[in-house]
Formats: sequence, structure tokens, C-alpha cells
Amino acid sequence: MNDPVRPPEPSTLDPIETASRDEIAALQLTRLRATLRHAYDNVAHYRSRFDGVGLNPADLESLEDLVNFPFTVKEDLRRNYPFDMFAVPRERVIRIHASSGTTGTPTVVGYTGSDLDMWAEVMARSIRATGTRPGDMVQVTYGYGLFTGGLGFHGGAERLGCTVIPVSGGLTARQVKIIDEFEPRVIAVTPSYMLAIADEFARQGLDPRRCSVQIGIFGAEPWTEAMRDEIETTFDMQALDIYGLSEIIGPGVSVECIESKDGLHVWEDHFYPEIIDPTTGEVLPDGELGELVFTSLTREACPVIRYRTRDLTRLLPGTARSMRRMQKVTGRSDDMLIIRGVNLFPSQVEEILLLDDRLSPHYCLEVRRSGRLDELTVVVEARAGAADRESREAAGRDLARHIRSRIGIRSDVRVREPESLERSLGKARRIVDLRPKD
Ligand code: DLL
Repeated sequence: MNDPVRPPEPSTLDPIETASRDEIAALQLTRLRATLRHAYDNVAHYRSRFDGVGLNPADLESLEDLVNFPFTVKEDLRRNYPFDMFAVPRERVIRIHASSGTTGTPTVVGYTGSDLDMWAEVMARSIRATGTRPGDMVQVTYGYGLFTGGLGFHGGAERLGCTVIPVSGGLTARQVKIIDEFEPRVIAVTPSYMLAIADEFARQGLDPRRCSVQIGIFGAEPWTEAMRDEIETTFDMQALDIYGLSEIIGPGVSVECIESKDGLHVWEDHFYPEIIDPTTGEVLPDGELGELVFTSLTREACPVIRYRTRDLTRLLPGTARSMRRMQKVTGRSDDMLIIRGVNLFPSQVEEILLLDDRLSPHYCLEVRRSGRLDELTVVVEARAGAADRESREAAGRDLARHIRSRIGIRSDVRVREPESLERSLGKARRIVDLRPKD
């Protein structure tokens, strides 16, 4: 049980994980050609978009030619709701997932048997990269259902040969009871919900540092290095980042490796990444910050060509694996606030508030309109040890001062009692937009 967390033996990796860049590029080109052809021949949307710019799949001669093909955006998937983006007859689709649709029509994705097989393969690879081994017990606390988190982890952990506990999200007291009694080595959950689990440990009088969990696989929402420290210290565990989105497959598009923890290796044999300037759409060289775009290379039911994720990151060379890395995603372009002309992501506030040990990691940003300008209120809970009014007020003043000096934004900070903010069971809602709808 107290075995240190170690990287996987090289002999257990898929050969492509350590292949040369040339081998990877050759495979990508073959698969990209087939994907463009498949999308063009079987999805009316892609056929009309390619025809519209006078391009045929055969016009792609090298990976660089992909820049000529049109982007796909969430709105395209919505317009083709529910099944018009399917590239195979509906009867061949053996699973459907969908995005939550809180901001409009949900987007639907379908999987053939071969898609589910590929997903289990990349998820098994991802879980193994975190130091998880066959035979380990894995508690899956991501939601099961239309959301891809629960079932995505489930398939991957089974494929790796783990013992899966399919708890799904919610019922926090039961999550703690299962950790305490079943003793899983690994938990897969959103980082914000892991914090709610930490609170529940305290409520039950249990020490989270003495629990069995050694590895946490966290994703589905942005989280900072400061949050990693918080979780690793609270639980005495390794916290690894995993990324993905339903439109591309679900979780398992990229993951951090335990040996380097230096960004997320993209499984480039299945998902081709590009970084673009979000305003002009121009492709940026590796290393530059921009919007992440993916083209699927092996999807059957729902091939996606140049899908604009709205996630902001940069591409970096491979380290622990030969495939390229993406830097930890610290924000989505949708979540960027502009407060009196200054751009702000919730993660910037998270980094600062976690430096103060009077403040807990439970927070949200409220945005109001005052006249023509937006105003920011940071609502954060005090830690249990600093709950008296005086220390709360002092912590609030200090946080406002640090936000002002580091980000250049004036904010109103409200430090609330411990346990007063609503806990997320899945993805945390960090922004509460109280501006009038125009
Ligand atoms: O959140 C899939 C997933 C499940 C990933 C479990 C990891 C773990 P969607 O619901 O379609 O899919 O949401 C995708 O969530 O475009 C990002 O904005 C955000 N996101 C996902 N993983 C990360 C991460 C799943 N590690 C959207 N860091 C993406 C930052 C993330 N943001």
C-alpha cells in the first residue's frame, strides 16, 4: 500500500508512445488523409464546407496543408443536432454522449465499437502514465451518464486491468466511506470536488493524509499549480492533470506523466493538435500561446476537423514521451473576464488566494455592471482556523491588495464563513455573471 508511486516500466508502454517524431508524423499523415476523406464522403456539413472553399480531401499532401481546411466550431455541432455530424449509419453507433448544454443546445457525440476501443486504449495509456498499475483499485468519482468523465475512466481503467469502483459523483459522505473501507490507491475526480471530499474527511474526524489514495487524476476544469500543492499536501498524494473534451472523444486526449509532471502529453497518434491565434485564426508556431484546435485521426462515428476548443495553451516538445505536450490549460476564452480593460481568468485569482493560509480554495468571482464598467467581487471562504471576523477582514484586505498589485485590477473581496459556499459535485462554477443580459 505504501509503495512509492513509480513511472510505468518502459516495456509496458505502447510502442507509439516512444516512437520517433518521423514515425509519428508518417502515421498522422496517413490517418489524416483517411479522416478527411471519411468526413467529406459521409457528413454533409464537411462536404459543403470543403466544397465552399474549393478543397477536396485529396488536396492534402502534407500535414502542413491542413491549414487550408475550414475550422469546426461548437455552433456547427449544434446546428447539426442531434445526429447530422455522424459519419456512419446511426445503427452502427453503439454509444452516445453529450455536453451538458447549460449554455444552449447540447452537442451530441456518437461512438462506434472501434471508437470505444480507441478511447479505452488512450484512457488506459493515460491512467498508466500517472503511475497507476494493473491491479490497482481506482475509484471513479466523475459523473456517469451523458458526461464523458465517468464512463471514459471506467473503460480505460478496466482496459488497464484495474479494479474499478464506479461510484460516480455526489454523495460525499459515501465517497469518504468507500475510500476509508475499500482503500483504493487511485481516485479520478474533478479537482474542485476533491476539495469537497477533503472537507468531508475533516467532518468525519478522519485524516486525509492517512487515507489509502496515492494518485489523483484530475481534470474536466482548469486548476492551477497552487491547487495541485493544496491537494497534494492535504492528501499526501500525487495529483496529475488529464485533459479532454466530448467533441474529440472525452477524457484521454492528453495527460501528465508521473515522471515529469511538466505539462500534458497529447496522444498525437489519435488527435492532431494545432495552436491558432484566436482572433485571426492564423496557425502559431509551437511554444506560442493561443487557442487549441484538434483534428481527430481515427474517429469513425464523429470525425472532427480542426475543432476550435476555446482552450488557451501552448504546444511544447515531448519529454517523458515523444509526443508533444500542451501546457496546463489555465482558462477558456469564454471564461475570460475583462475588468476595466484588464483581461482576467479565475485561475489568476486562485494562484494568489492560495498563497494565504487564512483563505480556503473555495471561491468564485462575481461580476456586476456598474454604469458602463464591469466590477469584480471575489467571494472566498476562510479556513476553519481563521474564521473570526477580524482575521477574515484582514485576509480580505490583503487579497484585494495583492490582486491589485499583481493583476492590476481593483476588486471587492468578501471572506465568508467556512462551509458557506456551494460545493460542486463535478465542474466548479467559478464565475457568477450578474451583469444584465443585453
Ligand atoms: O470535461 C472531459 C473530461 C472528463 C476531461 C474528465 C478530463 C477528465 P467536456 O465536458 O466536453 O469534457 O468539457 C471539455 O473542459 O474544453 C476544457 O475547457 C475543460 N477541461 C477538460 N479537462 C481540463 C483540464 C470533459 N485538465 C472542456 N484542464 C474543455 C483545464 C479542462 N480544463
